[in-house]
Amino acid sequence: MDVVLGIQWGDEGKGRVVDLYAESYDVVARFGGGDNAGHTLRVADRTVALRIVPSGALQPNCTLFIGGGTVVSLEGLLGELAALRELGVADERVLVSDRAHVVLPYHVAVDGAAERARGSRAIGTTGRGIGPAYTDKTARLGLTVGDLRDPAVVRERIRSAYAIHAARLPADLRDALAPEAEIVARVLDAAERLQPHVVDGVEYLHGVLERGGRVLAEGAQGTLLDLGYGTYPYVTSSHTVAGGACTGLGIGPSAVRRVIGIAKAYCTRVGAGPFPSELPDERGALLRNRGGEFGTVTGRPRRCGWFDGVAARYARRLNGLDAIVLTKLDVLSGIPSPEIVTAYRIGAHDVPFSACADERLEVVTERCEGWAEELCAARAFTDLPPAARRYVRRLSEILGVPVEAVSVGPERTQVIRDLRPSGEDASTR
Ligand code: GDP
Ligand code: IMO
Ligand code: MG
Repeated sequence: MDVVLGIQWGDEGKGRVVDLYAESYDVVARFGGGDNAGHTLRVADRTVALRIVPSGALQPNCTLFIGGGTVVSLEGLLGELAALRELGVADERVLVSDRAHVVLPYHVAVDGAAERARGSRAIGTTGRGIGPAYTDKTARLGLTVGDLRDPAVVRERIRSAYAIHAARLPADLRDALAPEAEIVARVLDAAERLQPHVVDGVEYLHGVLERGGRVLAEGAQGTLLDLGYGTYPYVTSSHTVAGGACTGLGIGPSAVRRVIGIAKAYCTRVGAGPFPSELPDERGALLRNRGGEFGTVTGRPRRCGWFDGVAARYARRLNGLDAIVLTKLDVLSGIPSPEIVTAYRIGAHDVPFSACADERLEVVTERCEGWAEELCAARAFTDLPPAARRYVRRLSEILGVPVEAVSVGPERTQVIRDLRPSGEDASTR
């Protein structure tokens, strides 16, 4: 099994990279998160924004497995399946683990209430009920996809959780919440329609691996949004690091062959929380406009900043990265002198992220030479202008991990995969 995940704050371009890599795998498996994710794929004239269905959807031979570590909105998933059918994607290729947990309407309400209670310290969640669904899982109040087979269990589980959550909601949110009986009816209806997709997640995935099948584990969100190792409390509620692929899929670490990190050529973040390399000025606005940096799920403008080498090295450690795929290099064309953050002023070593959650860190940057040429037609490393090649090599050097592909546009074919040494470009390390 190989793992592909984001090493920044999400939206690194995981979807487009997984779409590309999925051709060489039998199964693409999501291991965490829910429909807080938004993964955009562009193939010829088709653009698909996936939230919970894995990003192998446009590779016709891939099975798309939603693993046990995810939290699933049943109606969201059914909507996504319908949208895929309209695009001609056979939805019987989508399987859901019985261990996945269900996101329910009271989770969405509690998400809103918690954000309101945080006031000026709000996280800026996607409002999809992700945190409360994981909280219920931990509190042993959750409803699993496997439970959906038994209407009595569904009724009982919703009854106890509903009572607890509704009692704590502010009056306006409690009034807006659908009645318990309506939620049960909607869940039972959705459960019936999803039943053909539900599998014993452990039997299924181990069966694939034992028969020699190739599995690609797809991360959602990004390393710096990891519940335990990200910029807590401004994080999501699941483990987005490589270890999360093992727990989220029920696979031992020895089954992991390669870990591939996706990094954008600069950084973005949606929602609140520390972002040391942020450019809250016109340079950030330029990156946002050139890169189309607006949230897939919420449409919010993404905060933009330079590539953060300190955060990237931290992500390398947490994930044990074997290689990097660098995305959106084309966005930097015409930026006079892109910079790379090489240190934070508070100390020589990696930052304990939570300690700086509320401060604006001073950063040390290295100025790189810019390039004016558009890159979208480049298909070989040598097609890139020398300054762009030097930028890629420098990032790789700072990270200490080889770059194995560089994307230069959103379309599947807009990628440079041949980074083999040649002359001046002897190494991208
Ligand atoms: P994900 O959440 O990591 O899958 O990333 P998103 O799909 O949320 O955001 C990445 C956005 O950048 C999408 O709109 C992609 O179509 C787009 N994109 C991906 N790779 C490239 C690239 O190399 N260049 C440009 N210009 N856009 C890209
Ligand atoms: P993909 O997979 C970017 C952010 C939210 C918020 C925080 C917590 O597309 O990269 P949550 O709703 O998860 O409780 O929100 O995490 N966030 C993401 N940011 N990309 C994502 O997914 C994200 N999923 C969650 O903006 O700051
Ligand atoms: Mg996204």
